[in-house]
Amino acid sequence: KRLAVFVSGGGSNFRSIHEATLGGSIPGDVVVLVTDKPGCGGAEYASNHGIPVIFFPKTESSPEGLSAVDLVTSLRNFNVDFILLAGYLKLIPGELVQAYPKSILNIHPSLLPAFGGKGFYGLKVHRSVIASGARYSGPTVHFVDENFDTGSILAQRVVPVLANDTAEQLATRVLHEEHKVYVEVISALCEERIVWREDGVPLIRSRE
Ligand code: GRF
Repeated sequence: KRLAVFVSGGGSNFRSIHEATLGGSIPGDVVVLVTDKPGCGGAEYASNHGIPVIFFPKTESSPEGLSAVDLVTSLRNFNVDFILLAGYLKLIPGELVQAYPKSILNIHPSLLPAFGGKGFYGLKVHRSVIASGARYSGPTVHFVDENFDTGSILAQRVVPVLANDTAEQLATRVLHEEHKVYVEVISALCEERIVWREDGVPLIRSRE
């Protein structure tokens, strides 16, 4: 399968996805990187590894970015099958969601639907988890719809919140699990092991 990864930051998930494609645990290739921050770590990693970088979206302050319609055209030209958001902070436009039904994934660093939605990103998520007194947190992989963090949940991993955790320490513990669970889910997606329960909940079939 042909994968597009969307990144706004350092891109450690992008890196682990790329390594998994090279190592064969994801049966696919990252064929393009999309970013709203052309100078970010993820974009730099892509350039160093010969992965083309697309700048999106077009805004008043970044007129050189692609419009949503042009992005869809460009992804079609790359023959992209699946889109993987990996620390991409902007909302995905309806044009893209409609062009790639059941084909866009995101990873979020909390157990959704808790601590998700607009404004919950980065360390803010982990600070809120700690402040709430929750004893467990962990990453969620979900399909992407037109809102922040509300698409169908595919997989979650539980990570303990320790009594004296800082947001940074919790983030590190969660990120470690993110790298594993995202690769597992992307493998399932590429191997067509996702089945939809009658009520619309997606489930992952284990390998036969
Ligand atoms: C991760 O915590 C992910 O869950 C969230 O953004 C962060 C990206 O980290 N969506 P990285 O850029 O992959 O290191």
